[in-house]
Amino acid sequence: MNHKLVLRGDRPLKGSITAQGAKNAALPVMASALLMKNGTLELSRVPDLHDIQTMSDLLRNLGAEVHFSEGKMNIVTPDQLDWATPPALVRKMRASSLVLGPLLARCHRAVLPLPGGCAIGSRPIDLHLKGLTKMGAEIRLEHGSVHAEASRLKGARIYLDFPSVGATENLLMAAVLAEGETVIENAAREPEISNLAETLIRMGGQIDGDGTGTIRVKGVEELHGTEITIIPDRIEASTYILAGAITGGDVTVKGMEPEHLEALLAKLEEAGAHLSIQGDCVRTLPDTLLSAVSLKTLPYPGFPTDLQPQIMAALCLARGTSVIQERVFESRFLHVSELKRMGCQIELQGDTAIITGVEHLTGAEVRATDLRAGAALVLAGLAANGYTCIYQMGHIQRGYENMVEKLRSLGGDVEIVPCDENEGPKF
Ligand code: UD1
Repeated sequence: MNHKLVLRGDRPLKGSITAQGAKNAALPVMASALLMKNGTLELSRVPDLHDIQTMSDLLRNLGAEVHFSEGKMNIVTPDQLDWATPPALVRKMRASSLVLGPLLARCHRAVLPLPGGCAIGSRPIDLHLKGLTKMGAEIRLEHGSVHAEASRLKGARIYLDFPSVGATENLLMAAVLAEGETVIENAAREPEISNLAETLIRMGGQIDGDGTGTIRVKGVEELHGTEITIIPDRIEASTYILAGAITGGDVTVKGMEPEHLEALLAKLEEAGAHLSIQGDCVRTLPDTLLSAVSLKTLPYPGFPTDLQPQIMAALCLARGTSVIQERVFESRFLHVSELKRMGCQIELQGDTAIITGVEHLTGAEVRATDLRAGAALVLAGLAANGYTCIYQMGHIQRGYENMVEKLRSLGGDVEIVPCDENEGPKF
């Protein structure tokens, strides 16, 4: 049975919620468990999400035991692992590619069908493969799968043409068990990379420079079990801050790292939002009226592409004309046509969206085309007059834990309604 999300909007949200653990930190940390021989990795603050289930199933398929309950996850990795990944699971989620580096380092070979994931443009893994090749792996593409082999990976100097998050993570994991030193230049600097690096260091890895553009890794022979806490999810936290701002409400998000959201908070303040930032809490003060701002998405610490759809929804109700340039993923604008059904005025010119603020949005039947596009529709629906019905809400459940409960606790009128598989918006 499929589900749709039905919201009645135009009411200020009020109250406080706690940020979940970061999906994009938990996924690579889970993959890193494959690097241990007979070890246990204990994770805390793991969000209960579809993508986390997919990674758990993938690890189980490769031979690991995964136990997950109430945010605590134990992954027990045996001596022997399978190295061929199941296509059905890998195609569900792009982050499945994160097992490639660990499998190659631990099992000396891996087969990975080219992964799936959100429909936000073509998302190759050439940088992952180029880096692994530089470390001595032999890589062939056959029948839509990557076949990789290496006796023992060798340390190398790798320059990434783009600071890809996934490539940095995969190469970092491969490098911890490689022979000699690996230097990753133009590495991604996202906080999730540092959470992974901290995990690997606690497992016995030797890593320096994570969080900067140059990461140095000295390979070791073996890694052991450890425990680690997943960092707060900066994208989820930001979505609720935007929910406060777009409804003119009074929302506090607790248990977060405000310094991970500098780009959003600075942009919201520039737009005239009233925010209070104290310790691990950010509060949107009531009666916020946003004014137009312009921004471009960039790798961290730039404005995150994963928040582009959500801030666009908020700017649709801001006074004036805003310009958003998408610089990380081509065609990450699938939410635009859906937002327009709700009365948003948006014009697309290549990688740029020009948004003219309107006074009101109107509820409509729309479709969540990908995870963050779905979140943008939720925000627009919370602010719109009348009912909004969002189909394909499974995309949203890939990244937001208990979203309905959290919105209800803030006074949102939201419910999940079962629907037929083929049911969709009636335009
Ligand atoms: C991660 C995040 C995703 C976020 C993205 C950018 C996870 C699980 N997902 O995705 O939510 O939107 O970072 O912040 O952490 N690219 C190549 N070749 C490659 C790899 C990437 O051309 O080998 C391109 C991609 O097509 C894209 C850009 O680089 O245009 C950024 O991708 P990347 O940073 O790798 O994103 P992901 O790790 O897939």
